[in-house]
Amino acid sequence: MVEIGRSVERALAVIRAGGLVAIPTETVYGLAADAGNGDALRAVFAAKGRPTDHPLIVHIGDADGLGVWAIDPPPAARVLADACWPGPLTLVLHAAPTVSRVATGGRDTVALRVPAHPLTLELLHRFGGGLAAPSANRFGSVSPTTAAHVVDDLGVAVGYVLDGGPAHVGVESTIVDCTVDPPQVLRPGGIPTEDVERLLGPLAAASGPSRASGMLVSHYAPRAKVVLTDSPDEAKQRAADLQAQGDSVVVIHHGDVVTYAQCLYADLRAGDAAGADVILAVMPPAEGLGHAVRDRLHKAAAAG
Ligand code: TXA
Ligand code: MG
Repeated sequence: MVEIGRSVERALAVIRAGGLVAIPTETVYGLAADAGNGDALRAVFAAKGRPTDHPLIVHIGDADGLGVWAIDPPPAARVLADACWPGPLTLVLHAAPTVSRVATGGRDTVALRVPAHPLTLELLHRFGGGLAAPSANRFGSVSPTTAAHVVDDLGVAVGYVLDGGPAHVGVESTIVDCTVDPPQVLRPGGIPTEDVERLLGPLAAASGPSRASGMLVSHYAPRAKVVLTDSPDEAKQRAADLQAQGDSVVVIHHGDVVTYAQCLYADLRAGDAAGADVILAVMPPAEGLGHAVRDRLHKAAAAG
């Protein structure tokens, strides 16, 4: 049985011993290892079933880490870090030579973020180093927003699950590539792109599917087929048609996009748990957090 609890002390001991700890963040749970321990990092890739050239995000305790982990972070990176950290924003920067190339998937760039969760911040501050952590799910499946989701997905591969309750943002961080000028949003996420533009000015064209390296179109996929609709009425009609064909259907819709993001992954998992053949999702408007929810829904639907 995997150990679950709220002990930062225990999490720290497992990390220091080279083990894997599931950490709560405001976005989704991460599967963390000491970013300086190559063997521990390789265990993260193995536990997830993730290709080793698919880079990990390094979580750090505060923005002072920019100067430690990155070479010459540009002013835009400092502006974003000051405004958004701790929070759901990841910055891609030129990696310092000391950063493990196992964590970066062999690249000379590193993705950094300061997560906004008190338990994980305490862990980071006491540890002193960086924690490399992808989302704590099997590669390609739905990200975990509770400790129970992590246990369902990764079971015994995890040394300790630090239970920080349900993630309050619910979708992954926004990834901004600061190695190009102007910076580029590689993945829409918990910080709306509009907020990034408010801070930096207009960005390079950043619509369409995520372009974070190694991201696949079929990420975030439940077992059920995901079908996208534009309105509750359309969903109702499609549900009736599918049910008439004998399909079991679950509809996902939340009028408020903050709630939608919080519930999205749990809803997709619940659809699978209910044995649905089809999950019908009503798309939120393409604004604010809606960009991230739409991106994840497009990817979930692409898998079918
Ligand atoms: O909210 C989040 O970002 C969560 C929590 C745990 O922090 N983490 C997360 O990690 O979503 P993961 O591994 O599921 O997604 C990280 C994304 C990947 O698409 C990866 O390609 C991209 O970040 N990434 C990491 N390092 C990169 C780099 N050097 N250049 C470009 N993309 C990078
Ligand atoms: Mg992931």
